[in-house]
Amino acid sequence: MSIEIDILNGDASWQRAEPLHRAVWGAHVIARQPWAHIEWAHADLRVLIDAPDDSGLACHVGIYFRTIIWNGHKVHVGGIGGVATREDCRRRGYASLAIDAAVHTMRANDAVKFAVLFCEPHNFAFYQARGWHPFSGEVFCEQPSGKIRFEAMAPFVYDIVRAPRQGKIDLCGLPW
Ligand SMILES: CC(C)(COP(=O)(O)OP(=O)(O)OC[C@H]1O[C@@H](n2cnc3c(N)ncnc32)[C@H](O)[C@@H]1OP(=O)(O)O)[C@@H](O)C(=O)NCCC(=O)NCCS
Repeated sequence: MSIEIDILNGDASWQRAEPLHRAVWGAHVIARQPWAHIEWAHADLRVLIDAPDDSGLACHVGIYFRTIIWNGHKVHVGGIGGVATREDCRRRGYASLAIDAAVHTMRANDAVKFAVLFCEPHNFAFYQARGWHPFSGEVFCEQPSGKIRFEAMAPFVYDIVRAPRQGKIDLCGLPW
């Protein structure tokens, strides 16, 4: 069976992604997370995979592009966030496919040197098995209150060219 993968403008496709976000990260789930208070960036692009039985969206990965500062140097990076597969569609490889499509899209942008994501401990093994490395340095980002050190989730990086494993990253905007 062939699987169709759409990569669409982030704002224009939010309506399609929203029900899956609500199902996976409902208000009651968010409320007990260490990142409940964080304001997030909107995805620039979204990878969307529909369920083969036409029952709606099965999987979502948000793609972000940003010029960040690493150890004082400006670097253009890609990011992924909002990775989610509908509960009844998990373990079919959808998230792996969607993450691959996101990485492929980032690679197609010559300016992107590496990719960054943030995740919780129960997903460390999932991302490490897919080639992502822990970033052991410090991450700063913007929030409505001003610049903060971002510690609500752990940073992971992916070598598009070569990703640093340590140092200081300033996301120069909202996190994803
Ligand atoms: C994490 C998540 C996106 C995976 O989606 P998925 O479509 O089931 O992923 P895939 O089918 O591509 O991969 C599943 C594989 O990863 C493994 N896996 C899934 N979650 C894992 C985890 N947390 N740690 C380690 N391995 C994991 C599965 O065992 C499976 O391996 P297998 O193929 O050898 O059986 C999905 O479980 C989900 O939506 N979780 C809730 C939201 C979330 O935590 N998102 C991540 C935010 S950073």
